[in-house]
Amino acid sequence: MDEKDIFILRKLYENEYISGEEIASSLNISRMAINKRIKLLKTLGYKIGSLKKKGYILLDKDVIRIWEIKEYIKSSPLFKEFIYLEEVDSTNTYIKQNQQYLPDATLVYAERQTRGRGRLSRRWVDLDKGIKMSILLKLLLLDLEKIVPLTLFTGLVINRVLRKHGVESFIKWSNDIYLNGKKVCGILSELTGEVEGVGSIIIGIGINVNAKSVPEEIKDIATTLKAETLHDFDRTMLIIDILKEFERDFSNFEKYGFSYFRDEYKSFCINLRKEILVNGERMLCKDIGENGELVCEKDGKIIEISSGEVTIRF
Ligand code: BTN
Repeated sequence: MDEKDIFILRKLYENEYISGEEIASSLNISRMAINKRIKLLKTLGYKIGSLKKKGYILLDKDVIRIWEIKEYIKSSPLFKEFIYLEEVDSTNTYIKQNQQYLPDATLVYAERQTRGRGRLSRRWVDLDKGIKMSILLKLLLLDLEKIVPLTLFTGLVINRVLRKHGVESFIKWSNDIYLNGKKVCGILSELTGEVEGVGSIIIGIGINVNAKSVPEEIKDIATTLKAETLHDFDRTMLIIDILKEFERDFSNFEKYGFSYFRDEYKSFCINLRKEILVNGERMLCKDIGENGELVCEKDGKIIEISSGEVTIRF
């Protein structure tokens, strides 16, 4: 999609009906060219209808308002670039492959992922009308110790935003967001090779938003915001609020690390005081440490866990 397509989408979004002539004259291109571009938008999945005397109409307005996110990023003190993709294998992979051309603090969003990746080499099931995006941060010196806390910070930010939007979400260590006992959001952070001495971190965020339901294969463990609340969410607003919240506290994260957010994290963490399974071993979750590690007790011994598969026995 180029700038002209985005402009057409915006016109369609902002009007009930809009004539081809009107779009053509504001873009200074022919009526035929508009026809072609509308066709392209339809093949990309946009539901566009038309009526003879009235013009075009966008029938499903649950689209990402690319222009609003671009506008927001222009004024952002942290984020530098926004790349919108209709379809990609994985936004994390896209950043990995293109990072030398991308500025620090780039956001890549995709409406569809064909090979979305989850933690522990799992697949991230692609749900319609969700949020699938990745943030590239080149500003951190390659520091393995920072990746876990940064991912936890991102989970906290998303939990805040969902709550601001009226969702009673919780955090399951390390960074899954849960609603009514099922997962609605996952985060995959990856460190990539050194570029001119600076390590990059890619933070991939997947949120199940407006799909009515999830496929059979994951229905016992995952859900969507819509399935739980029975209403639609404005995905563009969610994305912008995540960026706002992330950048509002990112400098505190850099200065003070996870400990600055620890109390808030603990107040929403569903693992605390529960019996959990860590990589198959049963233990009691006692605390969340200064750097975000899971502090557990097993046979009278205290064990600190910084990564792994955690299952909660509710
Ligand atoms: C998890 O296993 O919980 C993490 C899921 C992360 C999914 C997101 S969707 C956007 C980004 N691109 C990917 O391929 N994965 C992450």
